[in-house]
Amino acid sequence: MNFGGVRFVLRVFLVALILTAPLMAAENAHFVIDVTKHGVKIDRNIFGQFAENLGHGLYEGIWVGKDSSIPNTRGIRNDVVAALRELKVPNVRWPGGCFADEYHWRKGIGPAEKRPATLNTAWGNVVDTNSFGTNEFMDFMQQIGSQPYVSVNVGSGTPQEAAEWLEYMTAAAPTALAKERAANGHPDPYKVGFMGIGNESWSCGGDMTPDYYVSQLKIFSRFVENDNPAQRDTNQMLKIAVGPGFPETEWTEAVMKAWQHHDWSWNFDGLSVHWYTTPGGWPLSMPSTDFSIDDYAKTLKTTLFMDEFLRKQETVMDKYDPQKKVALVVDEWGAWYKPLPGTNKDFLLQQNSLRDAILASLNLNIFARHADRVRMANIAQMINVIQAMILTDKEKMVLTPTYYVFKMYVPFQDATFVPIAFDAGTYSQGSNTLPRVDALAARDTSGKLWLEITNLDPEKPIEIDADTTGMVIKSAKGQTLTASQVDSVNTFSTPTTVVPKPVSAIVNGGRLTLTVEPKSVTVISLEP
Ligand code: AHR
Repeated sequence: MNFGGVRFVLRVFLVALILTAPLMAAENAHFVIDVTKHGVKIDRNIFGQFAENLGHGLYEGIWVGKDSSIPNTRGIRNDVVAALRELKVPNVRWPGGCFADEYHWRKGIGPAEKRPATLNTAWGNVVDTNSFGTNEFMDFMQQIGSQPYVSVNVGSGTPQEAAEWLEYMTAAAPTALAKERAANGHPDPYKVGFMGIGNESWSCGGDMTPDYYVSQLKIFSRFVENDNPAQRDTNQMLKIAVGPGFPETEWTEAVMKAWQHHDWSWNFDGLSVHWYTTPGGWPLSMPSTDFSIDDYAKTLKTTLFMDEFLRKQETVMDKYDPQKKVALVVDEWGAWYKPLPGTNKDFLLQQNSLRDAILASLNLNIFARHADRVRMANIAQMINVIQAMILTDKEKMVLTPTYYVFKMYVPFQDATFVPIAFDAGTYSQGSNTLPRVDALAARDTSGKLWLEITNLDPEKPIEIDADTTGMVIKSAKGQTLTASQVDSVNTFSTPTTVVPKPVSAIVNGGRLTLTVEPKSVTVISLEP
C-alpha cells in the first residue's frame, strides 16, 4: 500500500471539507412566538388577484369560448377554474389596469355575434372580440368562488356610463338595465364587492393632476352606486380611489386631505397604490429565467422596499385618517421582468421561478405586518401576465411557484397576526445584504397557530427552534417549497420542479425544532 498516496488523498479530502463546510453548515435561529400578544386580522383580501384584458391573461388564459376543444364551462376553462378554486381567491380586479380607462362595458354584453370587435389600444393594438364581458367575468367569479372588483372608466368614460354599468350589474328592481341583464341570462343582481374609481389617473388613466383627479373622484363616488338591496346595509361595496405608484406622497396628500373633509355626498373606503419589483428600473432589464445569484439577491433586495413604500403612504394617511378607516389597497404588485424572448412585448409574458415564490412570500409577510392599514392587495397578474399564478399554452396549463405560495398561505386568510421575535442574521451576495430569514405567524379562527418561514439564503439551511408563549403546542406539520436552483421553474413538460413537499418538524416539551432548507418557503401548522 502506498501510504504517501493515501496521506495525499486524505489531505485533499480534509482541505475540501474545510473549504466546503462553512457553505453547507446550518445557521441557527431561535423564535419566540408570543400568542398572548396577537394583533389585527390579516384580511383575506390581501390575497386578491388582478386579471386585466392584456395579452393572454383573459383570452386563452381564462376564456376559450364555448365551442373550444379545451374543456370548459360556458367558455371558461375548467383546468384553470379548478386550480384557482384551491387558492380561495378572495377578489379579482378587472378589466384593468390601463385597459380599464378605455373600456366601454356596453361592447361586452349581449349575444356574442353582435358584439363589436375593438382594438385593445392599451396593450398591443390587438383585436378584442369583446366575447369576455361583464356576464362572462361574473360567471368566472361564481365558478372560482370569488368577489368582483371592477374598475370603472374615469379616463375616457363618463359618470353616467359608469353609473349605468353598476345599475346593469346590481339593480334588483325591474329597470330597463336590469331587464337587459336578465335578457342576457342573469335575472338576479350580481354582488359587486369593490369598485375602483379609475386606474393610475396620474399616468395611463388620463395624466391628471391630483386636484383634477379629486374633482373626478367626488363626482364618480357620488353618482356611481351599487343598487343591490343585499349590499345596502351589510356587505356594502367598497369604493377605492386612485393613489400613487411612486414613493413620493403628494398624490396621497391631496386625496387624503380631500377625504378628511368629505361629507355625506361622497366618500371612499380604500386608496389604491401600485408598487412593482423592477430590479434595475425602467426599461426592464432583468430576465425571468437563467439569471445569476447576484440577480437573485438584487431582486429580493428591491422587493423589500415595499415596506418603506407602504410606510411613506401610511404616514400621510395617518395624518388625515388616524382611525384608519381608509384601507391601503396594493392592487398591483409583483415582479415585473423583461418579456420572454420571441413573445409580443405588449403581452408582458414572463416565466416564474423559485425566486418569485420567495419574493411573493416576502411581500405577503410585509402586507400582514401592515395589516392594520393594508386590507387588500392584488398580485399582478393572475394568468400569463407578469408574476402569474398560472401559465397556459393552448390546452396546456402549468402552475407556477407563486401559485404554490398562494396555496400554502390559504390558512393565513383572515387569521390573526401573532408577533414573532427572532434574529437570524443577514445574508450577503455582492453588494446586497438581506435579512437571512423572514417569518410570519398567525392564529386561524379555529385557534390553530400557523408559522411561515422564508429562508432567503440560497446556500445555508437554518435550524430553527421555537418557543410559544401563551399556548402549549403538541404537534406540528407542514410543507416546504424549494428546488435545486433559485431560477428553477415549472414548465409544461416539467410541471413539478418547484412544488411543495412535506417537511419534518419535531415538537418536544412544547418546543418546535425544524431545519429549513436554503431558498425556501415553509408553512407549518402548530396544534395545541
Ligand atoms: O399590470 C400592467 C399595468 O401596470 C397596468 O395596466 C397598469 O395599471 C400598470 O402600470
